[in-house]
Amino acid sequence: MTDQTLLSLLEAKPGEFVSGTEISRALNVSRTAIWKQIRKLEAEGYQIEAIPRRGYRLAGRPSRLSLAALLARLSTETFGRNLKLFDVVGSTQDELRKLAEEGAPEGTLVIAEQQTQGRGRLGRSWLSPAGKGVWMSLLLRPEIPLPLAPQLTLLAAVALCRGIVRVVPLPIGIKWPNDLLVEGKKISGILLESAAEDDRLKYVVIGIGISANLEADDYPEQLQHRAASLKMLSGQAIDRTELIASVLEQFEQLYKLYCDQGFVPIRSLWEAHAVTLHRPLALPDGQEGIPESLDDMGALRVRMPDGSLRTVYSAASVDGGVS
Ligand code: BTN
Repeated sequence: MTDQTLLSLLEAKPGEFVSGTEISRALNVSRTAIWKQIRKLEAEGYQIEAIPRRGYRLAGRPSRLSLAALLARLSTETFGRNLKLFDVVGSTQDELRKLAEEGAPEGTLVIAEQQTQGRGRLGRSWLSPAGKGVWMSLLLRPEIPLPLAPQLTLLAAVALCRGIVRVVPLPIGIKWPNDLLVEGKKISGILLESAAEDDRLKYVVIGIGISANLEADDYPEQLQHRAASLKMLSGQAIDRTELIASVLEQFEQLYKLYCDQGFVPIRSLWEAHAVTLHRPLALPDGQEGIPESLDDMGALRVRMPDGSLRTVYSAASVDGGVS
């Protein structure tokens, strides 16, 4: 018997007790062997409630991420099934890119407890302290034309909104194109990097940063009024395993919808979650307009003061000879 099997049984019934008899039968082991495994899991930081005649219940996980716990909790088909967990990396984007070049399958996920060179959009750096957030990159190999890749960034924003809110009920809104905000503060960001060959999309690496359990003093002064963590906003510590699993479940569902039905349903979902629409937005050239909706490609349609409509694109960075 392995920890993971016992863990999977407990994980399969969140909040419920699993009786000793059920565990013995499922794993074909004695009560004493179960007890030993429970002790081992507790030594690893799991909290397991044991009540005579009711059985065992998973009451808490270790605060460090563990491969076994993540795999036991995941209910996706492919997303996160090929999973690499690192203590410290420069950027999960670079680790995943290496795997992608070696032929890693769609859904491969790289997670790190800490990034020393975490990067954000527009060449910014991304604060990624140890054990306090979700710093991960997901590999997709969609069969879509290269110019449509930014649609995936909008899809990712919706997936994150839906995944996070299931774990911590906060009023999350999407700011164009893919920042997640609560009370005007950024809680999460998405970085899409593509690799292309001869104008063909080879793969997409979607970087996801969620500020889960950072404290106010983890942020440098210039970020303090613009960013916050889920813990700071909700007053509760966030179970990162639960958060990762929830986001991946939503992501996989929406990605299937996208592959089956294209961008139209994703567009409606994005618009429903957006906080950017129907209020003034400063454009990169300094002008201001009122965003009205997304178009079929995923670009933002902005009404300008002279009544004209302008189309604003969210660029994805592309490697491989195409800019
Ligand atoms: C942004 O809002 O600017 C995007 C932030 C993306 C951060 C994530 S954390 C995991 C992945 N690795 C990185 O270096 N960046 C992304």
